[in-house]
Amino acid sequence: MASIQSIIDVTSISLFLYPKASYLPPVPPLIQTTNLTRSYRLGKKSLTVLEGVNLSINRGEKIFLCGPSGAGKTTLLYTLAGLETPQAGNVTIDGVDLYALSRAAQSRFRNQRIGYIFQNYHLLPELTALENVMVPGAIGGKHHHDQALAALSRVGLAERADHLPAELSGGEQQRVAIARAIVNEPDILFADEPTGNLDSHNSAAILDLLLQLVSEKNTTLIVVTHDQALARHGDRVLTIKDGIIA
Ligand SMILES: Nc1ncnc2c1ncn2[C@@H]1O[C@H](COP(=O)(O)OP(=O)(O)OP(=O)(O)O)[C@@H](O)[C@H]1O
Ligand SMILES: [Mg+2]
Repeated sequence: MASIQSIIDVTSISLFLYPKASYLPPVPPLIQTTNLTRSYRLGKKSLTVLEGVNLSINRGEKIFLCGPSGAGKTTLLYTLAGLETPQAGNVTIDGVDLYALSRAAQSRFRNQRIGYIFQNYHLLPELTALENVMVPGAIGGKHHHDQALAALSRVGLAERADHLPAELSGGEQQRVAIARAIVNEPDILFADEPTGNLDSHNSAAILDLLLQLVSEKNTTLIVVTHDQALARHGDRVLTIKDGIIA
């Protein structure tokens, strides 16, 4: 049997010959875009919103995306999340070329891997808070009652489960939207101005909640905000202007 000393000797020699940096393969970014281009046709005119955006985002990063109104923040978020097909370029998530997938496969991928908090909540008005949070499960073919209730509890709204969106405050509706976005435990959470309609007290509470939820599971978080003070809570701030990331 090898002595402890000989094992230590062999280990030190290998560390000397192969320093860590040279034998550990580099970790590829979770999200990568190349030359992402998106324009809209308005009559005879074309409006270019994304002009060859190249981005790399690592797993677990917390990114804040800023830029003036109309700069293309929502368009970029939609395109990264598989909700809006670019005219050129591609989005690769965990090695999967998103827009090379069939529509059905894209939708499955989004349902399993991505959570999205829309700019204006986008709750279904005729469904209760709990039913809204059950929607992603239903899309994935599952009856998600218990998970949905657990997600509502995580955002402190279990007691409002049977309320319709119209019977909830703005901050509560936003929390339902967050619960719906996290119920499938996504790898990536996109949030488009999650505090845009809230006062400063509720904004801080929503941001704390988001950061707490993502740190529990090392979820990658990409948040659009106008608020530079909020943006300081992330790992990186990206600014979009004139179709490019400055
Ligand atoms: N479906 C569409 N058809 C035509 N133009 C569009 C469409 N969607 C967005 N645009 C235009 O693209 C530009 C970028 O829109 P986008 O919603 O991405 O901006 P934004 O940065 O999210 O703005 P805000 O901060 O006001 O939410 C705007 O000038 C908008 O008018
Ligand atoms: Mg927007």
